[in-house]
Amino acid sequence: MIVVGVNSDYGIGRGVAKLTGSAYRNFQNKVFPDGESYIRLDANVKGEDVLLVQGMESQPDKRFVEMLMAVDAAFEAGAANVYGLIPYLAYARQDRVFSDGEPVSARAVLRALYDSGMSKIAVIEPHKEQELSYFKGKSVCVNALESVAAKAVAETGSSMLIAPDSGSWGRVNSIAKRLGLKSDYIEKNRSRVDGSLSMVKGLKNAEGKVLILDDMISTGGTVAQASREAIAAGASSVNVAAVHLLLVGNAKEKIKDAGVTKVFGSNTILDSECEIIDVSGEAAKAVSTFID
Ligand code: R5P
Repeated sequence: MIVVGVNSDYGIGRGVAKLTGSAYRNFQNKVFPDGESYIRLDANVKGEDVLLVQGMESQPDKRFVEMLMAVDAAFEAGAANVYGLIPYLAYARQDRVFSDGEPVSARAVLRALYDSGMSKIAVIEPHKEQELSYFKGKSVCVNALESVAAKAVAETGSSMLIAPDSGSWGRVNSIAKRLGLKSDYIEKNRSRVDGSLSMVKGLKNAEGKVLILDDMISTGGTVAQASREAIAAGASSVNVAAVHLLLVGNAKEKIKDAGVTKVFGSNTILDSECEIIDVSGEAAKAVSTFID
């Protein structure tokens, strides 16, 4: 197998190549004056199985189109099979119709990848594991939340994990049990009209150092609200860990203003002001199941 970074793989492609004993190559990337992406495969992949690695965080539409073009380029260059490793899958949160007339965007994206000819796919912490069933080939969910949590707990000495919404509570509670920590959750409600958050269930007691754990941070509203709640409930310090640090707009300021000491994330997205944990090992394990 040859691992090929398309445009946005932040070192995970190299890590996976090393751990699976594969070669690592890149695409060349340019942007045409009108904004279209240009990519060119810089490798001989004739007769090879190719693993394309492409995260879809910033400029998700471009990253998605580049991935579709990369599949085409790999087959054009004679690849035997084309697989995908997606560090961050965009559009995953629209995994159902919330209001009439909306698409199931996760389904549209995963169907298009399969229809492009990609036969196997590994996705690091998709919003919900079940949505990978929209991809009609083999799909593997790469769980990275626990290793991010374990490293953040070891570094901060946290004694309690907090899930910032009820959707993540089951996983956070299981991780807390395995790490021998206390845990609790907050329940939030997000307005479908303006995205504003309101609290449905707060915390009774949050003694000591707490770690808020979530799959991703986008605008920072969810973890900022959780941090304020934890401090009000008695936490002596609050740190935050998530797999995907999108941190859009003024998310970092919002989180800091809410009393958070440190933000931990994974190398599915890089941010020099945060503590980044390498999850190539988890991705390599999943990708190893692709190799016959
Ligand atoms: C929601 O279901 C997710 O797990 C995250 O809690 C959410 O996407 C975070 O968004 P934001 O940072 O914009 O509040």
